[in-house]
Amino acid sequence: MRISSLSLLFVLGLAGSATAYPYPYPESGAIQRSESENQAKADAVKEAFQHAWNGYVKYAFPHDELHPVSNGYGDSRNGWGASAVDALSTAIIMGNRDAVQKILDHIETIDFSKTNSEVSLFETTIRYLGGMLSGYDLLQGPAANLAPKETQVDALLAQSKKLGDVLKFAFDTPSGVPYNNLDISSKGNDGSGTNGLAVTGTLVLEWTRLSDLTGDDEYAKLSQKAQSYLLNPQPPSGEPFPGLVGSSIRISNGHFTDEAVSWNGGADSFYEYLIKMYVYDPKRFESYKDRWVLAAESTIKHLQSHPAPRPEITWLASYHNGQQDLSSQHLTCFDGGSFILGGTVLDRQEFIDFGLKLVDGCEATYNQTLTGIGPDSWGWDPKRVPSDQKDFYEKAGFYMDNGSYNLRPEVIESFYYAYRVTGNEIYRDWVWNSFKAINATCRTDSGFAAVSNVNTAGGGAKYDNEESFLFAEVMKYAYLVHAEDAPWQVQKGQKNAFVFNTEAHPVRVAHT
Ligand SMILES: *[C@@H]1O[C@H](CO)[C@@H](O)[C@H](O)[C@H]1NC(C)=O
Ligand SMILES: *[C@@H]1O[C@H](CO)[C@@H](O)[C@H](O)[C@H]1NC(C)=O
Ligand SMILES: *[C@@H]1O[C@H](CO)[C@@H](O)[C@H](O)[C@H]1NC(C)=O
Repeated sequence: MRISSLSLLFVLGLAGSATAYPYPYPESGAIQRSESENQAKADAVKEAFQHAWNGYVKYAFPHDELHPVSNGYGDSRNGWGASAVDALSTAIIMGNRDAVQKILDHIETIDFSKTNSEVSLFETTIRYLGGMLSGYDLLQGPAANLAPKETQVDALLAQSKKLGDVLKFAFDTPSGVPYNNLDISSKGNDGSGTNGLAVTGTLVLEWTRLSDLTGDDEYAKLSQKAQSYLLNPQPPSGEPFPGLVGSSIRISNGHFTDEAVSWNGGADSFYEYLIKMYVYDPKRFESYKDRWVLAAESTIKHLQSHPAPRPEITWLASYHNGQQDLSSQHLTCFDGGSFILGGTVLDRQEFIDFGLKLVDGCEATYNQTLTGIGPDSWGWDPKRVPSDQKDFYEKAGFYMDNGSYNLRPEVIESFYYAYRVTGNEIYRDWVWNSFKAINATCRTDSGFAAVSNVNTAGGGAKYDNEESFLFAEVMKYAYLVHAEDAPWQVQKGQKNAFVFNTEAHPVRVAHT
């Protein structure tokens, strides 16, 4: 029992606010934390951010990412300084003036017309375009006190426009469905005949924002034209359940080529952006919301799944060829946050409740492992349990398909939405537990490294890579859940002034 009689009294005193959340409180939901304790936790996340930032600046800046084991660097994201740009909105929110200044100084100098590598339209949009537009929205707005030079704030938008102009040829196809893998010097592409659901359907927020801020509607039109094929799926076989669509789209005509449905990587942020576009502008994007509602209802009906040894757990299965595939991924764990956001914005308690079940399911993958971090992917198909994981499966309800942890944010991200919408302290505790586990397992002398096996003491081998989303997402959500209220925080109901892109960059909503 973790409820002391004192905190029980306190909770009874708060009965009014408790009844606003009619699902059962877990016991430790009765715990109230003092402001100084939350402040100390927020400061501990700042310390971790600073540690990673210092290592990146010392060994890798202005390259894309630090190699945190060898203290080298990599340029896996076009060589434009991905970690710096991805860190901007987090540095702003943390009030880290030195980091903000260094990043603004760098962004002015990037030449987006030059790179030696193939450019991913999706990755470049969510990390660079999203990072710069968010920096602009924050520094123009509620964080204006952090930007010493107005010209550097304006440069964020000017550079965003330059990047949009470099990338927009991607949409120049017979259907308007873009190529994802681009050669920006020759305006070429990888010759693919199809594009994926997530990489096609996770552009519209950033490209629409770019139009709304510049007054040039070309970017919005291009991304919304591509999106139109996803909202009106053809042929009908591409939509096996209302709102749930296949994974791959033919570039020549915008038709789906399959009926493989999931919320896993490859599909994930398409569903995420349907409801986020409605948050961004409920007038223009009502039809996106309608598609999200259909998808959410079909997901509850057809994809929810419960492992035989622990039937109280809920995860989302995938669907293909008339069958469920009983496996899921760390990437999929944004799902709880998406249901909670949709539920609060649309005032639909059943979506919030289902989102909280998904949040519990993702927590269950974290709190059963030796490190306290969940695996990259797992399964619960009784016919596929690996012989060396039988005991673990019986206890935990899942077996690990891929036990690595790649500094991913999705589990902490959904805990954050759960906390902001319910006010239940248990979700803060879960963020704190996860953050401490990541800090204890992945930290190196210069930053944070991906690890090979979350169910081995110490996490197994450290991989020599630090994805830029460590700065953009893990650090941001872990900080925000403990930080005081602010205009960029996720709010209950329809009060959001910002909406987070899939890389956790807060974008100002259109109607404020
Ligand atoms: C572990 O996760 C479950 C959700 O499945 C939760 O109910 C429980 O409180 C968690 N345990 C701890 C120690 O956080
Ligand atoms: C396991 O997941 C990591 C992180 O996403 C990935 O880099 C690695 O290739 C995966 N391993 C296998 C065997 O699929
Ligand atoms: C993170 O790790 C560092 C280095 O071991 C340690 O000093 C710090 O207290 C840790 N933070 C938390 C919250 O555990």
